Amino acid sequence: MDKVVIVTGGASGIGYAVAQSLRQNNYRVVIADLNQAVGEQAAQTLGCHFVAVDLSRQVDNYRLVEETVAKYGTIDILVNNAGFQHVCPLDEFPEEMWNTMLSVMLTSPFLLTKYCWPYMKKNGWGRIVNIASVHGQVASPFKAAYISAKHGLVGLTKSTALEGGEFGITANTICPAYVKTPLVDRQIADQASTHGIEPDKVISDIMLKNAAIKRMIEPEEIGELVNYIVSDAARSFTGSNLTIDLGWTAQ
Ligand SMILES: NC(=O)c1ccc[n+]([C@@H]2O[C@H](COP(=O)([O-])OP(=O)(O)OC[C@H]3O[C@@H](n4cnc5c(N)ncnc54)[C@H](O)[C@@H]3O)[C@@H](O)[C@H]2O)c1
Repeated sequence: MDKVVIVTGGASGIGYAVAQSLRQNNYRVVIADLNQAVGEQAAQTLGCHFVAVDLSRQVDNYRLVEETVAKYGTIDILVNNAGFQHVCPLDEFPEEMWNTMLSVMLTSPFLLTKYCWPYMKKNGWGRIVNIASVHGQVASPFKAAYISAKHGLVGLTKSTALEGGEFGITANTICPAYVKTPLVDRQIADQASTHGIEPDKVISDIMLKNAAIKRMIEPEEIGELVNYIVSDAARSFTGSNLTIDLGWTAQ
């Protein structure tokens, strides 16, 4: 397998596990991340190419695709994964933070899809995987921008799937519940102060409240799911939400 993949936010957490899983299957992987030091280290460890980007900036999205094509000649698979969380009541939510979150988690996936599209179309084959969230399907309080971006990403994916069908391009979202990553570690502390409760209560009473299986998901589980959805075995999946949520949305 020598297909070329971009994984955004691949320096850490889910993106790292996705890059690792794809490398184990011999994909050529470009990790794009804001965190240059950690991203370069991750790329070196996994045998990936690293591009430093701030995906809230349109020009960096364009440059990422240009650099990938300059290095490998094409792009076959795009995994839009970069993201972050800000937990805050709606009436205190900073406007600038809203704009940045929407830029990174909704506008960047649109821009990267647009810029990768001509290569995938030319190849008659492409895979777009958008890492949304269970919060792309249901809401929780204090996460207005995150939930809006993730719901939007689910919509973008469906639209992409409809336009990609005739060109052999599929687009799907993965919607996980809480995955054990640095993002969630930070959120436990944030939620504890926003709700005024102890960190272990955040895990048991908020994060795992709606889960049928009372544990966090491992990042490697998402890596394996991405590997499946980009494979030829998954060629009939498009426009789908792959919900991996320990039973959260079953009720
Ligand atoms: N961890 C969870 O519980 C969970 C659940 C559902 C969905 N997700 C989604 O999975 C994705 C990855 O989350 P994670 O938990 O691995 O978080 P993480 O914090 O471990 O990794 C996110 C990565 O995105 C990068 N990033 C952030 N802003 C960026 C920017 N402007 N430009 C480029 N890179 C940027 C960070 O540097 C970091 O390396 C996110 O989109 C998140 O919303 C996470």
